[in-house]
Amino acid sequence: IRKIGVLTSGGDAPGMNAAIRAVVRTALFHDIQVIGIRKGYNGLLNGEIKEMYSKDVSNVMNLGGTILHTARCPEMMTQEGLNKAAAIYKILGLDALVVIGGDGSYRGMAELAKLGVNCIGIPATIDLDMNSTEYSIGFDTAVNTGMDALNKLRDTSSSHERCSVVEVMGRDAGYIAVWCGMVGGAEDVMFPEAKGVIDSQKVIQQILENRSIGKRHNLIVVAEGVGGTQKLAKDIQDITGIQTRATILGHLQRGGSPTAIDRMHASMMGYHAVKAILEGKENQVICFNKGKYEIIGLEESLGMEKTLDQDIYNVIKILAI
Ligand code: F6P
Repeated sequence: IRKIGVLTSGGDAPGMNAAIRAVVRTALFHDIQVIGIRKGYNGLLNGEIKEMYSKDVSNVMNLGGTILHTARCPEMMTQEGLNKAAAIYKILGLDALVVIGGDGSYRGMAELAKLGVNCIGIPATIDLDMNSTEYSIGFDTAVNTGMDALNKLRDTSSSHERCSVVEVMGRDAGYIAVWCGMVGGAEDVMFPEAKGVIDSQKVIQQILENRSIGKRHNLIVVAEGVGGTQKLAKDIQDITGIQTRATILGHLQRGGSPTAIDRMHASMMGYHAVKAILEGKENQVICFNKGKYEIIGLEESLGMEKTLDQDIYNVIKILAI
């Protein structure tokens, strides 16, 4: 193994820089040349590349976002784009391509793998919606950001005896929502996986019950995948007469200095990615399952399933009385 490429793809996630640092430094430690590819797969297609040295990843561990920049790349959805990407990989003389990103990026990898590109994936998305791994880089920082927002909203909503409805990110998954709901002490959480179990009528009923037992303010978390946050806030206010405000955290949740957990996983996963390449593994992804780092086949990873542990929600309800 002489030369590898590394890129970050899809939505950025805090901790991506720590993963880049680990990939670059582990590779250099083993005398492997590293090519940094900017703006995800776009950089591969447009030749936005640069050799990376140890100093290029100095002082980046603490930074949110990604120093390589990232993008979603529609061209990778076309056979022409894929062929071009695979051809450039060969022209560059790469022995492997480390892709740091989420499910969409993994699907791009699977297509490239068919064209002879050796892809190694590192899971990174704040959404935690990757089926092959119990942890993806960025989740902990995003939850901490959500918790911080809930703490602040609690101050103002309790001062005004209001209801606060807070929408958190997560695309179609409710991991960020249920975690924020638990650690922020929310009374209720609406998340996509609970379709048919929790609806706005039940939430409103819960708010009224809580007020009747003396609660003077309310915190409700809504997952982006459920949406309708402004309408829910209006309905709560119209039906209960309780002043209600909606807050959508949006991209605030993607930024910020990564937490220790994110830096740890990113560093270990970056190291394991390069180790896998050194061991001659091809088209594999790094996972963290049952407390251990493991490596599984890319194709297999895309066929896996995982379910959100709804017990967290049941406990939220018990603790919200
Ligand atoms: O996948 C991360 C994520 O932040 C999701 O939670 C959200 O739905 C999406 O990306 C937003 O995408 P964009 O930054 O392209 O608007």
